[in-house]
Amino acid sequence: METPAVAAGEKLGVVDGRPSPLSKMVVPVFDRSVRYGLGVFETVGVHAGRPFLLGQHARRLVQGLGRLGLASSLDPRTLVRWGQRAVELASVQEGVLRILATAGDDGALRPRVLAWAMEEPPTVSEASERGLRASIHPLRRDPASPLSGTKSLAYADCYLARWQANARGFDEAILCSSEGRIAEGTASNVFIVEGSRLVTPPLSEGILPGVTRAFILEIARGVSLEPMEEPIEMARLMRSREAFLTSTRLGVAPLVAVEDKMIAEGRPGPVTLTLRRSYGGIARGEYPGSGATPGCRPERGMEIP
Ligand SMILES: Cc1ncc(COP(=O)(O)O)c(C=O)c1O
Repeated sequence: METPAVAAGEKLGVVDGRPSPLSKMVVPVFDRSVRYGLGVFETVGVHAGRPFLLGQHARRLVQGLGRLGLASSLDPRTLVRWGQRAVELASVQEGVLRILATAGDDGALRPRVLAWAMEEPPTVSEASERGLRASIHPLRRDPASPLSGTKSLAYADCYLARWQANARGFDEAILCSSEGRIAEGTASNVFIVEGSRLVTPPLSEGILPGVTRAFILEIARGVSLEPMEEPIEMARLMRSREAFLTSTRLGVAPLVAVEDKMIAEGRPGPVTLTLRRSYGGIARGEYPGSGATPGCRPERGMEIP
């Protein structure tokens, strides 16, 4: 495919499969994503020049469009190709690939797909080593809403909840389900460790099906943990031996306190640290063959005592 001429230093992204200078990647006001936030996006980690779990992100994006009534002929394989192209065009080694699919113009049901990659250092890396502190936010996850469980462009509620948590000195905010149980973070999923059980709220709580969450559930048995999806009350989280958050940007990050209460001793626990190392190693491609496919195994000797 031909690459357009660009000004020196300007990066390229991909619009509907075609290379485009970043400055020309614009969404017209007629696109329904502008007025209604109708559309979806994905943030994919790029490690050693490879978009990690891109296939899973592409599938979630297509499912998200379907949930918003924007079913289209877009298929995940096409999105994977466009995403890889965006990473190559920007020559990103360590960073993120963003893919955004809008609803399209009034009267036309064709989404616009924009993909671009950037070098970006991992966020809150220091905090995610020492352990994150979360507030509890009054925003609820409602399983009946098509926006719950969708990485929708109408993201202002989570954005504001995170912003308010940060303003109060917390790293993340925990959102509860309409029943008052733990749902998820504003940009992360929640896990607790109870003995050899690794527990996370089920998707029926109205949470985003996190790509990292699914991957952790998949590799759990390889480190002798029994993965479970079960409703979690706040008291159960606070009684747990360890807790952690997962997301593309954080990987596996210890959660050591909620509001002014510590979880266990208020330090990252051994299971969390093992999963963090294991996940990070796989994401960086340190285990040959584990690449972008699920079902990979963490390194030998990572079993949890
Ligand atoms: C509301 C919400 N939950 C969970 C996650 C984690 O999802 P993933 O692991 O796919 O990054 C995100 C990511 O941004 C999110 O926005």
